[in-house]
Amino acid sequence: MSRPPRYHLTSYGCQMNKLDAELVESRLVAAGYESAASDADADVVLLNTCSVRQHAEDRVWSRLGVLRARKRREPGLVVGVLGCMAQEHQRYLLARMPHVDLVVGPSAFGDIDVKVGEARARNAEKSGDGKQGAHVLAVGEGVSGDAIVRDPRVRPHRSQAWVSVMRGCNMPCSYCIVPSTRGQEISRPIDVVVEEVQRLCDDGVTEITLLGQTVNAYGRDLSRDVTLARLLHALHAIPALRRIAFITSHPNFLSPDLIDALADLPRVARFLHLPAQSGSDRMLKAMRRGYTVARYLSRVEQLRARAPQIALHSDFIVGYPGETEADFEATVELMERVRFAQSYVFKYSPRPGTLSAEQADDVPEDKKAERNAILLQVQERHIQADAQALVGTVQEVLVEGESKVDGRWTGRTVHHRLVHFPSSDRVVAGCYLPVRVTQALGHSLLGELLAEDHAVLPAGATA
Ligand code: SAH
Ligand code: SF4
Ligand code: F3S
Repeated sequence: MSRPPRYHLTSYGCQMNKLDAELVESRLVAAGYESAASDADADVVLLNTCSVRQHAEDRVWSRLGVLRARKRREPGLVVGVLGCMAQEHQRYLLARMPHVDLVVGPSAFGDIDVKVGEARARNAEKSGDGKQGAHVLAVGEGVSGDAIVRDPRVRPHRSQAWVSVMRGCNMPCSYCIVPSTRGQEISRPIDVVVEEVQRLCDDGVTEITLLGQTVNAYGRDLSRDVTLARLLHALHAIPALRRIAFITSHPNFLSPDLIDALADLPRVARFLHLPAQSGSDRMLKAMRRGYTVARYLSRVEQLRARAPQIALHSDFIVGYPGETEADFEATVELMERVRFAQSYVFKYSPRPGTLSAEQADDVPEDKKAERNAILLQVQERHIQADAQALVGTVQEVLVEGESKVDGRWTGRTVHHRLVHFPSSDRVVAGCYLPVRVTQALGHSLLGELLAEDHAVLPAGATA
């Protein structure tokens, strides 16, 4: 009897892309495929791609170049491009990379195992005559990964899981490709999400992260009564759940009921990813973000007045078309005022088909790099100061796994801060332990384990 076919899947994108990868894997495993340790061992190589910046796409184009050579030697090999680049480039992808067998957009994962099976069968036929077979092209409206009945066992960490609550994005941000690759917002009803989370909890999950591109706009396509705050309340009633996080929030939808939920629900994680993108009103307007700096700051004030313990995370884009020194200085100022706990900083990358791509990409690359480095330095200073302030405090840590450093384990606080601590026989992935912070490292903390019954300060009392 021949061995089961093996697949290897690489994910290049955001958390949603990684969750899609899990759902695709879940489907393939159910259909009898096995996961290969590397792509060299695989009969089916799948790339789950991202189009958000050119760099993300370049990595995939170059990997496909390498796979072309292998495919010449092994015509039976199935090469599949999934995700946002598949949706964005469709036939162009096949024209540029004719050795690709399968192009499947994020809205067409529902029967991915069938599509992979078809590609295998066709390759097996054509390897006899050496001719190029037809490709599988599945893009546009279809059945998304959310329709896949999730196998609660397929996920990277036993006690942690991502849960999609909505797909797509209806926002008009001038620079962003996501609305075009992911389509219109579609929220999943509260009871469907609760049921999925319940099944995950039955399988050992205690921490979930709800995913949506504008997760705090959740429900607006369903009805007025369906909101993220309501969903958080519903999930809070599941006793096994200890932490409920959600990403990414848009400043325009930080509503009073969501602020109340963050303040009142003790098991909702103590961080909020609320990308500001820029600190200049001129840039925000050009980016079509729909808020001013003053409005962003007033939302932050409202949040901090009600829930001071919440750590804020942000994204920034530097070098957007027309960004002057003064615009950039305004971004630095915003960062200094808010003092984010963490920020991602991106150099602007024009995406064909978006509004801003019609404008000249006129900030030189070295200027973008310089501004990027400056923002990261400011952020770094804030991270260091925050970390120093935590030395001596006791934090509840959810253990994630062994650290790269021998004899150490790694976990996260309720504020999503990374903590390393020496191993002991009490430590297993998935448990919650009290750790006293002893030292601030670069982007993480070093700590020591305390007795299990040591009281952990209420979340937020220390951050
Ligand atoms: N939905 C989320 C994030 C989506 S993409 C939100 O709106 O916050 C993640 C981040 O990539 C964005 O926040 C933005 O900072 C960055 N980004 C998106 N398009 C970009 C582009 N064309 N060039 C550079 N950065 C970009
Ligand atoms: Fe892109 Fe804006 Fe939607 Fe975020 S909110 S995914 S930046 S269009
Ligand atoms: Fe990239 Fe698609 Fe996510 S473009 S950021 S993988 S939604």
